[in-house]
Formats: sequence, C-alpha cells, structure tokens
Amino acid sequence: MAESMKGLKRTHRCTEVTSADIGSTVTLMGWVQKRRNLGSLIFVDLRDRSGLMQLYFEEDIIGKEGFEKAGTLRAEFVVAVTGTVEKRSGAVNESLKTGELEIRAESLRILSESQTPPFPIDADITVKDELRLKYRYLDLRRPNIQKNLILRSKIATLTRQFLAQEGFLEIETPMLTKSTPEGARDYLVPSRVHPGSFYALPQSPQLFKQLLMVSGYDRYFQLAKCFRDEDLRADRQPEFTQIDMELSFVDVDDVIDVNERLLAFLFKECLNVDVPLPIQRMTWQEAMDRFGSDKPDLRFSMEIINVSDVVKGSGFGVFDGALENGGTVRAVCAKGLGDASSKKMKNIEKTAKDYGAKGLAYIQLKSDGTMKCPFAKFVSEELLNALVEKTGAEKGDLIVFAADKFKTVCDVLGALRLKFADELGILDKSEYRFVWITEFPLLEWSEEQGRYTAMHHPFTMPMEEDLPFIDTEPGKVRAKAYDIVLNGTELGGGSVRIHQDDIQEKMFECLGFTKEQAYERFGFLLEAFKYGVPPHAGLAYGLDRLVMLMAKEDSIRDVIAFPKVKDASCLMTNAPDVVDDKQLEELCIGIQLPQEEK
Ligand code: AMO
Ligand code: AMP
Repeated sequence: MAESMKGLKRTHRCTEVTSADIGSTVTLMGWVQKRRNLGSLIFVDLRDRSGLMQLYFEEDIIGKEGFEKAGTLRAEFVVAVTGTVEKRSGAVNESLKTGELEIRAESLRILSESQTPPFPIDADITVKDELRLKYRYLDLRRPNIQKNLILRSKIATLTRQFLAQEGFLEIETPMLTKSTPEGARDYLVPSRVHPGSFYALPQSPQLFKQLLMVSGYDRYFQLAKCFRDEDLRADRQPEFTQIDMELSFVDVDDVIDVNERLLAFLFKECLNVDVPLPIQRMTWQEAMDRFGSDKPDLRFSMEIINVSDVVKGSGFGVFDGALENGGTVRAVCAKGLGDASSKKMKNIEKTAKDYGAKGLAYIQLKSDGTMKCPFAKFVSEELLNALVEKTGAEKGDLIVFAADKFKTVCDVLGALRLKFADELGILDKSEYRFVWITEFPLLEWSEEQGRYTAMHHPFTMPMEEDLPFIDTEPGKVRAKAYDIVLNGTELGGGSVRIHQDDIQEKMFECLGFTKEQAYERFGFLLEAFKYGVPPHAGLAYGLDRLVMLMAKEDSIRDVIAFPKVKDASCLMTNAPDVVDDKQLEELCIGIQLPQEEK
C-alpha cells in the first residue's frame, strides 16, 4: 500500500548525514537497495542519488506494526524513514561514505512499492544493452550512470560560469530552421502551414552564430542541441550537444587561448587534473605523417616511418607500383609483436583491409632469431636489412608496410597503430593527452562527387600565405581551422571565418557552387555580410564526447540520459514511430514505402 508523505520533510540525502549528526533525528527518503533479516533485527540499505545509508529496525523501538512493515520491504520500494543517527555497532564498511554510521529507524512509511526490476540496480552488474535501454529509467538509477550525469551537469554549470566570466553571452538559436552546412544528412520537419515545405533541424548553430557576430554580440556561446542523420558509432549520436561559441575581432591564437583555459578549468574543477598550458600544437601534415591520423593519440609513440626511399627500385611490384603511381610506402614497427601467430597476422591484415589496404606486407623478427616475411622472395636480403635498420626493429618486433596513395597509407597505418597499442595494452587510462591540430587542408577532393568539398565548412578562412594557390592548386591551400584532440578523440573543432566577399566567392567557386546556388542556400548570411561584418572565429566541442572522456567511458551513450541505439531508434519510447493518418493528411504527406518494407 502506498502511503503519503504528509507531515514529513526530508532532512538529508543519504550521504549528507555525517558523524557530526550522531544523536540527532533525521528523515531520509529513497529506494530500498537491500534488506537483510536477522531475526529480531532487520537491516536495510537505503539509496538515493547521493549514495547509501544503512538503516536498522528493532521491534522494541519501531513497534510491532512498524517491524512487520519493515519485513515486507523489497528492492526498489520507495520509503521514508525517520530515526536517530548512530555510530555503527557492527563492522565499519570502508567502501561506503556513510560506512561508520547507521540510522535506528523510529518510523517507516512505504511511499510506493516496486515490482522486481528486470535487472538489479547495481553498478557492478553487466546487463545487456537492449534491456538497459528499454528500461532506461531503471538503468539511470545505477550509481555509475548517475555519477556520469552528475559530472555532466557539473561540466555544463562550470562551462557557463567560465564563459560568462570571459564576457560570453548565452544566446539560443532556433531548432526549426534551414539546412546548415556541416555535411551530414538533415533531419527534416514538415510544415503544416506551408504544405510541402520542411524545416531542417540544425546540424550546428553555425550560420546563426556568425549572424550574431554581424549583430555585434561579440562573444556568444550556447549548449546547443545538434541533429545529424549519419551512421552511428560509439562516439556519435543522431542528436548530441555542442558547447558552441563564436568570437569577434580575434584570430586563431585568441580562440585557442580561451579554450585551453576553459579545458584546464574543467579538468581541475571536476577531476583535479592539471592540464599543462599551452597545449601542444601540431599541423595536420605533421599529424598525418607521424601518426596517420588528424586525431592522433599521443599517449604512445609507435610513429609511422617513410621507407619510400629505401624501397625505391626494390623489384617488388607492390612497393614499386605504389611509388610509380605517385603513392608512398610507409611502415610501423610494433615492439613486442614479432611472435604474433598466423591467426593474429590474418586478423591484423583484415583490419588493414577494412581501412582500404589491398594487402599487408610485413616482417616478423621472431624472438628465436628467425624471420617471417611473405615478400622476402621478391626482394634482396640487403633491402630487408635496410628496412629493419630504417624502422629500428629488433628481435621480437613486427614491421608492417602499407604501399598506396598517401591517404590510404595514413588510414591503414593510423588504424594499425591503435590496434597494436590496444593489443600491447600500453594505453594509460589515467593519462589525458591533449593536442591542437592546426592548418587543415581547406578542401578535400571527393571522388564520389567529382569535386572539392570543404574539409570544415564553406565559411572557413584560407591561410593568407596560401591564397595565391587558390586558383591554381586549390588542394594545397591550408585553412585557419583547428581541432582539439584528446587521447585520439576529436573533442571539438572550429575555424576563423571568411568575412571578405571576394574570398567567399572564390571559396564557393572552388566548391563548384554558382553564385545563384550559394545565394539559394546561404543568401541570408551573404546578405548580412554586406552590412558591416567583424572578423570572427569560433569553435564547438562535442559536450557528450568531453563528458565521456572525463568519465572514462567507452561510449557516449553512458553520458546521455536518453540515448538512441545504432539504428537511431529509442528502445524505451519506440521512436521513431508511425503517426495517425489524420496527422499525415494535415501535413499533406503520403507515405510510399520501398517494396521490401511493405
Ligand atoms: P563539427 O562538425 O566539427 O563542427 O562538430 C563539433 C564537435 O561536435 C561533436 N560531434 C558529435 N558528437 C556526437 N555525435 C555526433 N554525431 C557528432 N558530430 C559532431 C564532435 C565535434 O568535434 N559548426 C562547427 C564548429 C565551428 O566551426 O565553430 C561544427 O559543428 O566532438
Ligand atoms: P601480392 O603480390 O598481391 O600477392 O602481394 C604480396 C604481399 O604484399 C602480400 O603479403 C600482400 O598482403 C602484400 N600487399 C599487397 N598489396 C599491398 C599494399 N598496397 N601495401 C602493403 N602490402 C601489400
């Protein structure tokens, strides 16, 4: 039977009770974690978002009826208990914040009962993802997830505090809007008033924050919901939150300065971790050359080595062919993987192929002094020795080679480097290694579209010194764009924006837009720029990714209250779902399913 809490007021959360309260009367409310009957004594662990407190019930104190009621308590019942704080008579529980205290219960109300939950509310229990997400409201009761959401709230509050102090204004931008230029698919919302027309949910507040600079707000920020219809991964959700900002009258260094101080502040306040400033900077080219990635994990070295010079004219078709086609041959030496089994080598080769390699040439220097090298028969012994020397490999090491165009070689060796680190268990989970990646290419050639696309977005400023190549070698032009990377994850990115007409026009030209097409999509921004636009720049973090890394979680789902699964559906609400015919009629929408789904 559910009782009311009339006349009762909670005095503390469970772990807010301290030894200073010994002897005083408190009222706690929360969920039953566990009940143990010891004949004349009943122990109950009470849980709320702060943690656990041990209660005990004795018939002499609480009376017969109260004692019987305590005997009916089961896991997840919601109760209110009034009692006296005492020093624990039994053994102190070191693992609990309230481990040396207990409450002698003097009255008990059952505020509501609970069915047996589909899984125990316990941080240490592994539960299948489907079940967790179907009953997310129960999953969210688990202390580990609560800890993450409490951290998330703290990060959001501290971010607001820091940015307000730095002169930023928090301004909201619309959710029902027009397509934004971040390059993913849009989520569309049909308009009832304008049949056949659609709003797009923002992929980011990019255009609006630039307009706010035109409007003179000078420094803007927002914790902005963004929507992108793209394939989900462990660090991607269809809706996610950005810490989004834009600043006027600034250049790259100004944005980096305020943001590294923000990061240092958050890490100090939330984790008591000192982030040494300034954070290391690395150009995109250097990151690709050394680590094969624009988001290098710098917690370990295992750098990529260019062996093109060594293998030139080797007579081995794979190497010579790549070089003749303008490609490159590079290697990674994995210390300690030289004895990998054939099965393991197959698995490594599979990863290489997943990242675009046509095969994987390798040399295994086994610890017994023998060598395994499938391409040895094609090359001279001198060449093999030169490769071993160039890569610094020793007995017990594995050297893998990728021969292809630069991009593929980077993708393959970048991925293998991470796989090897994982395999060798050399990643220090307690280390936070930040790096700014700068001087990204402005444009990226898209084979699929047969044209250049913007690597960041079309409003990103080229580096002044590269402007002369924009007509002749657009692929060579570097951008005033920067990403902040933490332990191999892209936390955030941004750029200085173009505020000059002529450069913006050139940019659209490079992207293959006609003036009309550019106006059709971004006319309001281009029009606004005619009325006095300050030089401006900005950046956005993925808040979810930041919390994930700070909470040491492997998936952003564990730091989002109600996340979606891989196919972008919500297992708890069943969204997306079909709607009433009447709603469709009002929107003038007819549904035509592909054949197989009918
Ligand atoms: P960008 O597209 O790089 O830049 O996004 C900024 C950051 O948002 C995070 N992020 C995501 N997080 C979770 N799920 C997703 N699907 C997802 N997509 C992106 C990443 C990323 O670094 N308007 C520009 C910023 C600017 O130029 O100021 C922008 O949106 O952590
Ligand atoms: P093949 O001549 O295709 O049988 O390849 C000889 C060896 O080179 C095999 O071990 C392949 O896995 C490897 N290999 C093939 N293509 C590449 C490539 N692009 N980069 C590195 N190794 C390769």
